[in-house]
Amino acid sequence: MTDALPEKGVPGEQILAELRELRAGDLPTHGGRLFAYVYDPALDGLDELAHAAHATSAHVNGLDPTAFPSLLAMENALVAAAARLLGGGPATVGSVTSGGTESLILAVKAARDARPDIRSPRLVVPASAHAAFAKAAHYLRVELDVVPLSGLRADPRATAAAITADTVLIAASAPSYAHGVVDPIPEIAAIAAEHGVRFHVDACFGGWILPYLRRLGPDLPVGDLPGAAVPGVAVPGRDLPDFDLSVPGVTSISVDLHKYAYAPKGVSILLHASEELRRPQYFAHADWPGYTMINPVISSTRSGGPIAAAYATLRSIGDTGYLALAAKTRESVTVLAAAVEATEGVRLYAPTETTVVCLASDGVDLFVLADELAARGWHTQPQMAHADHPPTIHLTVTAAVHATAASFAPDLAEAVAAARARGPIQLPPLPPLTPESVTPELIASLAEGLGLGAGDFTQMATVNTILNAAPPALREALLTGFLSLLQRPTPVTR
Ligand SMILES: Cc1ncc(COP(=O)(O)O)c(C=O)c1O
Repeated sequence: MTDALPEKGVPGEQILAELRELRAGDLPTHGGRLFAYVYDPALDGLDELAHAAHATSAHVNGLDPTAFPSLLAMENALVAAAARLLGGGPATVGSVTSGGTESLILAVKAARDARPDIRSPRLVVPASAHAAFAKAAHYLRVELDVVPLSGLRADPRATAAAITADTVLIAASAPSYAHGVVDPIPEIAAIAAEHGVRFHVDACFGGWILPYLRRLGPDLPVGDLPGAAVPGVAVPGRDLPDFDLSVPGVTSISVDLHKYAYAPKGVSILLHASEELRRPQYFAHADWPGYTMINPVISSTRSGGPIAAAYATLRSIGDTGYLALAAKTRESVTVLAAAVEATEGVRLYAPTETTVVCLASDGVDLFVLADELAARGWHTQPQMAHADHPPTIHLTVTAAVHATAASFAPDLAEAVAAARARGPIQLPPLPPLTPESVTPELIASLAEGLGLGAGDFTQMATVNTILNAAPPALREALLTGFLSLLQRPTPVTR
């Protein structure tokens, strides 16, 4: 392993070679075969541009816009673009944050701090809301009221029933991450407005592509991909409800530029319908001997790198570019969905109304299938059973998948056949586990026994089967313990 602080500095070429070697062990961020974590438009030259833009501003500090007006100008331009795309009006304001989680934490903070009169503030979310809301509630000591879904979507009536005098914020998704479906935003917005409660739309995931999917219109073009228009497979973007700031009652909305705006990691936008709504988002502190700290977001010192890279990405792709990327993505979704529909042993679990293909089992072990797909170069995201939902496999589809989508069907068929031949996972005998019984020693021996000790994460079916059987609190304890086991300082011998 390399030493981050060698006795003597190391030549740049050697360092870059080391980095390339380290990166070779990662999943491929480009190439349309990784269906989570990364968003790839497959546009020639875009990476180089974004990297160069990042370099211009990497050392610029967003802490003080009067010192670095370049960043303020770029942030205001990004916020304006997001507001234009997402139904904002002349009163709309916003902030650039480091990611979706930060945008959501700040939406909750703004709502909480707008109501200092409420001693025990509460946040109402559908069961499908992103985990970042639970994190926000945890960090900010806001009570979380999780409302059961109607099918895969937020239930407006149940949402209304969950509102109390202490509710400071209601949230819903456009779309949800797990299933890629859009909640009934206009109905929930009307309820929120009626109760005088703020309503945040979490469009972190799909907010940059939904407007373009809608603009594409209802009919799929006759694409060059086989199976591009398949009966029974929903066309992404068709029949979506209104979901943005143009809906009366929506008070804030978040959209991640490092997702479907295809910017490098580290940029999201949080928009508020008015300056007054944004005001409690700020933190200000003058009561110390140093500079007066005024922060719109969680970080104080902030690199300008990601902001400049996002600015360059948006300007390079442009409005018509995003429309073209949405068209490719839409076609890719339908091709993948058609492959699922055509393959015995799996089925679509959610309608493909946005950019997610979510599949469930029809007689095959899904965790074995995920490993078999990975063995064929398709890296998917297994999702554990939750409440009434069975385990599923999630595919986030981006424009880069257009180049690979046609080869998915034969590989899926092969992977299903291989998973069938292997049969379902038979769990090894395990000690009875509770969250309290999870110690570092237990984690270390489990990791060793499951073959994770050497850092090989290609055969995950047994691990996933154990996690799937574990109640959420136990799953959290096991995975926290495992991450903590991984996150140990590198031993250095000099
Ligand atoms: C709907 C939704 N909200 C919030 C987030 C959190 O975003 P981030 O990982 O950038 O913090 C995600 C991430 O996938 C998401 O899909």
